[in-house]
Amino acid sequence: MLIGDLIDPHITGKLLSMRHFLSTVDWSRETLQTLLDQAAELRQRPISDRLKGRTIALLFLNPSMRTRASFEIGAFQLGAHAVILEPGKAAWGIEFEAGVVMDGAAEEHIAEVAGVLSRYCDAIGLRAFPLFKDWSSDRQDRVIKALAEHSRVPVINMETIVHPCQELALMRTIQDHLGQPDGKKFVLTWTWHPRPLNTAVANSALLIASKFGMDVTLLIPHDDYLLDEQFTDAAYANADAAGGSLDISTDIESAYQGADFVYAKSWGALPLYGRPEEEARLREPYRHFIVDSHKMALTNNALFSHCLPLRRNIKATDEVMDADYCVALDEAENRLHVQKALLLNLMERRGEG
Ligand code: CP
Repeated sequence: MLIGDLIDPHITGKLLSMRHFLSTVDWSRETLQTLLDQAAELRQRPISDRLKGRTIALLFLNPSMRTRASFEIGAFQLGAHAVILEPGKAAWGIEFEAGVVMDGAAEEHIAEVAGVLSRYCDAIGLRAFPLFKDWSSDRQDRVIKALAEHSRVPVINMETIVHPCQELALMRTIQDHLGQPDGKKFVLTWTWHPRPLNTAVANSALLIASKFGMDVTLLIPHDDYLLDEQFTDAAYANADAAGGSLDISTDIESAYQGADFVYAKSWGALPLYGRPEEEARLREPYRHFIVDSHKMALTNNALFSHCLPLRRNIKATDEVMDADYCVALDEAENRLHVQKALLLNLMERRGEG
């Protein structure tokens, strides 16, 4: 069954949602669960030729280890081929804005890049982090939307201001260890880091945990670390629809108490976006948000995870990372399985018949 067959009736008018995987916001829980179930089957039978002769182009505007490796290996295990492109490095730099005079560094426009790759490939993946200058601009996610607008093949978000593939891996991991997620307490805790990081994984963790009916607590050190309201509003709506909840807390002890799953991420304060020196001063008093065994002892024998990469003894202690309850490697492995399910659903029937 194709994902397009499974889209919620109320969003069937959204062509982009049917063709592309840009955000889970437009995807129903049932559709996502189908992918998660397929991922579990693929874990049992990883090798096939179901995508023999298919190709996917993976465009990385930013560094990656897990995303690149899991997509490239996943495509290979299904008989497909992945072409890795790094625009601005070993491929021409790309302009994503419409109507600009291209007298800067970019040699070609996304209209031509998407057009050419649509003739070569069956899908295109893109990683394009925000520029960390102006959140009012970055929050619109215009780069991947420009690719989706010009592409004639499905586009997969490999992390922009959300990280939907990570969401699938996280939920696959939660279900592997906790079974039905509804009503389980999910704590997303901010942690200190030497520099302000992307909010994408935090936004995504809120979206997926709330969509699957978990009781979500967002633990932040200061109101300036609230996430963009487009994501908290979506999480509140998800919680209403799924029978879960979203609480926002600055109290470490009560947030950890009773937790079934602790998820850590660091991100920069949005009110100080593009002002890293000021943001560093705001962040400095909160190093104690590190995930350690004392905090984990407050929980309901919770599991711990992180999307990785993670700086040990900055975001979480060695003791936490090496504990049996740390499932970060399971989550990283699940990137492979969930993305293969996604590739099958987006690419399998293209060009047939
Ligand atoms: N979690 C994740 O996306 O890892 P990479 O940045 O290494 O791809």
